Amino acid sequence: MKEIYTLKDLQDWPRPQKKSVPPIRLGILGDPVAHSLSPQMQNAGLESCGLKLRYARFEIDSGELPTALDLLRKLDFAGVNLTVPHKIAALEFMDDVDEHARQIGAVNTIKIDDGKLRGFNTDGKGFSRAIREEFSVDLRDLRVLVLGAGGAARAIALQCAKENCERLVIANRTIEKAGDLAKELRDFFAGPKVFGPVPRLQAIPWEESAFRFQIANIDLVVNTTSVGLNRADASPIPARLLAPHLMIYDTIYSSVRTPFVSAALESGARGANGLSMLLHQGALAFEIWFEREAPLDAMRAALL
Ligand code: ATR
Repeated sequence: MKEIYTLKDLQDWPRPQKKSVPPIRLGILGDPVAHSLSPQMQNAGLESCGLKLRYARFEIDSGELPTALDLLRKLDFAGVNLTVPHKIAALEFMDDVDEHARQIGAVNTIKIDDGKLRGFNTDGKGFSRAIREEFSVDLRDLRVLVLGAGGAARAIALQCAKENCERLVIANRTIEKAGDLAKELRDFFAGPKVFGPVPRLQAIPWEESAFRFQIANIDLVVNTTSVGLNRADASPIPARLLAPHLMIYDTIYSSVRTPFVSAALESGARGANGLSMLLHQGALAFEIWFEREAPLDAMRAALL
């Protein structure tokens, strides 16, 4: 099996994958996609269940997405995952979109059923399961600060809202985007829960004074921005503003500590990176494709 397949490979299929036994019928589409850990995780899952399919990486750029999806449909693929930059753009090419994915406005999992593309989004639920696994708590009980207002933030913020979290604060460098997201979620927070003088739902600017003010009324801080993708990056919130009562979750995954997790530990808080979310969103995708429970232990072991 090649490390990375391209649109050209899909156009020449099945020749490029001839040597792959079992055949490739699943994959991740993205650009870049080389760093993705999904193939090792999903292939371990497939193998452990005795499913005779393999999962591969496909480097597909924005312009190539419609052609690639059409080819996958014709080539009898079982499904794919989508990553940057396709999650939002893919919506319009689906034959059918699950209600939750439509609400988020993004698709991360496609199931191909009788040649039909059905779009799902497992990021929010995957996040919720990751938080339970890492910190043994449910979102329902938490006051959450989400850093960022892009695709990942939308999935996570909506999940927090749906699970009726105590409080949701969204901070973004472009404050208007945080405001728009908060506005969309307003109805979820119209209920009677009142938490002292602070609002249950709030958009705040990406500023030290705003973070400083919020931290005492927050339990969980989630980084969905790309700050920390490079090991040399600073933490999105410096350690001196964090506090020991916090749970810190960085959606960036890494085998070493991300800058945000390092800052958490330095401040005495608990911290976890996005490997657990990668695992759970992938397990949920597996369950959509095969309508059976995912082999979590095998998939987790492949990531560690
Ligand atoms: P994803 O789909 O992974 O969420 P995205 O939609 O491109 O990616 O969102 C990226 C997020 O990271 C945005 O919230 C972005 O802030 P802006 O809306 O202001 O662009 C945030 N982000 C990226 N670089 C950042 C930086 N250097 N500092 C703070 N936020 C940053």
